[in-house]
Amino acid sequence: MFKVTFQRYITMIEQFLVQLPWNEEILNQSMVYSLIGGGKRIRPVLALASAAAVGGDVEAVLPSAVALELLHTYSLIHDDLPAMDNDDYRRGRLSNHKVYGEANAILTGDALLTYAFELLAAPGANKPETQLRIIREVAVAAGKDGMVGGQIADVAGEGRTLNLEEIEAIHKGKTGALLMASARLGGILAGGTEQQVQALTDYSQALGLAFQIKDDILDVVGNSEILGKPAGSDLRQGKATYVSLLGLEGAEHQLHAEILKAQAALKLFGEAAIFLGELAFYIEQRQH
Ligand code: IPE
Ligand code: IPE
Ligand code: MG
Ligand code: MG
Ligand code: MG
Repeated sequence: MFKVTFQRYITMIEQFLVQLPWNEEILNQSMVYSLIGGGKRIRPVLALASAAAVGGDVEAVLPSAVALELLHTYSLIHDDLPAMDNDDYRRGRLSNHKVYGEANAILTGDALLTYAFELLAAPGANKPETQLRIIREVAVAAGKDGMVGGQIADVAGEGRTLNLEEIEAIHKGKTGALLMASARLGGILAGGTEQQVQALTDYSQALGLAFQIKDDILDVVGNSEILGKPAGSDLRQGKATYVSLLGLEGAEHQLHAEILKAQAALKLFGEAAIFLGELAFYIEQRQH
């Protein structure tokens, strides 16, 4: 059942992505290159599944869910640049800057980020005040106090030994913030109660941290072919990660604790959140 639902969400997301009005210009080609044909789509899946958990209209959330994937893809393009993690492969193919050059890669990221907000602000099924709330939340999650803030701290931490609190803060920023925004977006747009949205917040906060701990683990034990990006990147860049601080076993232990925390937050929903519970398990077990 999990696989069927997952696949149904993926199909909705992929279909929405390809029908966007892309043209043949280089900037569009470059955006499509990084967006289409790779990526687990966890953020939009999380948004759609959160909408379903509160009993709302999943279709109505789709454009905003896809906006999160655009924003996430921008962050990956910039993350791979030589000035940041300097990684040559992403999603099973050459990184954007290896194909289009650094200037185009920077601008492609900028265009994906702004296009994400264009989609979030587009007139549609949602009440204007709800939409405005979402736009603001996504902006906060993506910006200085969220993803970009985490990325800055991640770069500043290179070559240094950070303590657990510091690494946790980096992970919650660079990765957790957008995952949390995804779940909240789904819950809020689908008309969830404040109590339901709070439960989704608790769930996704733990899930977001777990997601990046697993990413740290896969960087050490994963296979580049399966990952679609170079393993060993963190060691090469001297990144402070859960594995560098706690070792593999310690990181696995923290990962499992966060997964349990995430699943415990779903109690309120009963059967409506079976998928979200299994999504947490999938994230713990994933090999890419
Ligand atoms: C990679 O994200 C970067 C992190 C925030 C850990 P994903 O693992 O979701 O990458 P894709 O979207 O599937 O390529
Ligand atoms: C990236 O963290 C977080 C982003 C906001 C892109 P990583 O640098 O560990 O992600 P990967 O391993 O390159 O996908
Ligand atoms: Mg990075
Ligand atoms: Mg990276
Ligand atoms: Mg990584």
